[in-house]
Amino acid sequence: MSKRICILNGSPRLTGNTKELIHSFTRGAESVGHEVICFDLQTMNIHGCLGCCKGGKDESFPCVQHDDMAKIYPVYRTADVIVLASPMYYWGISGQLKSAFDRLFAVAELNPDYQNPKKECVLLMAAEGNTENNFSPVKAFYEGLVSHLNWKNMGIIYAGGNMEIGDILKQPYQLESAEQLGKSI
Ligand SMILES: Cc1cc2nc3c(=O)[nH]c(=O)nc-3n(C[C@H](O)[C@H](O)[C@H](O)COP(=O)(O)O)c2cc1C
Repeated sequence: MSKRICILNGSPRLTGNTKELIHSFTRGAESVGHEVICFDLQTMNIHGCLGCCKGGKDESFPCVQHDDMAKIYPVYRTADVIVLASPMYYWGISGQLKSAFDRLFAVAELNPDYQNPKKECVLLMAAEGNTENNFSPVKAFYEGLVSHLNWKNMGIIYAGGNMEIGDILKQPYQLESAEQLGKSI
């Protein structure tokens, strides 16, 4: 079955290691017939959540803030799979991705009891460190998020050992893993 995949790219480096993971994942997903839409959050005007809890009144634009989330909401709502793609920043996801993700709360506000839409999801992450210990805070965050949203994790790529742009090209198995993950969705 063809799926609709929405990638939220939290990397500010548009030719960086995260983007290479995204390219490989997309190649794999498209090769088996999935539709992939990627948002480069760094290029978009997206503000942080205001915590006003006044969203959810208008299906076509669920948040009170009117910015580029307007492009993401309709894709998010109809997507089968959400991909969180990010560099590791201070043992977490980037601010760009966190800001966009927080704003998805407005979609939950459309539903009784703030029910989140059910999704499958994937994590793609590039980082300098390459140990289990380096990735453990992100693992805890992602697993907690997926569990609380009642989403289904379809796979994770922890691509460690990458600092400079292009470093990941020297670790082709990481990109092959991302491509295989895209195919397996
Ligand atoms: C502000 C900042 C914080 C970072 N924090 C971490 C970190 O906590 N752990 C780590 O392993 N790498 C860290 N890094 C390195 C990046 O995760 C790494 O360079 C990654 O490959 C960047 O992905 P990109 O090329 O998509 O931007 C940090 C880099 C920056 C700029």
